[in-house]
Amino acid sequence: MRILFVCLGNICRSPTAEGVVRDKLQRAGLAHRISLDSAGTGDWHVGKAPDMRTRLAAQRRGYDLSTLRGRQVEVADFERFDLILAMDLSNLQQLQALRPGTAKAELDLFLRRYGQGLDEVPDPYYGGEDGFEQVLDLLESAADALIDELRGRV
Ligand code: 4NP
Repeated sequence: MRILFVCLGNICRSPTAEGVVRDKLQRAGLAHRISLDSAGTGDWHVGKAPDMRTRLAAQRRGYDLSTLRGRQVEVADFERFDLILAMDLSNLQQLQALRPGTAKAELDLFLRRYGQGLDEVPDPYYGGEDGFEQVLDLLESAADALIDELRGRV
């Protein structure tokens, strides 16, 4: 099974989702069954490491995002992945516009499927430190729910 996480810049939310889910999959012994990636709808940060604030906040909780690099979503992703999980409604709308009619991948909001309350992961880029902690809180909880579901499926 292949899962792609998508946000706007691919330097804050989606690399955090990728890193958190990968860490939890490893702990659950499921890492060999599922491949993960992340991408942005925008192209400003292609080739860049995640935002320093994102990396530091993740590192404080034990997640290493330093080897990840930004890339932009492409039409081929709809064939490469089984499930594409967007961070907010704007990301989802961009993906829906890009999605070919024959696309294999299922497309949804990460938190609509696996969150508890909020449907969107708020964009932390222009805000303060709290935003990065909130992103981690939301993504850790959704990652746990995703992995619970995968345990029954893979
Ligand atoms: P992300 O956050 O979508 O969670 O990676 C952002 C990163 C960069 C920008 C916006 C959001 N930006 O405008 O450059």
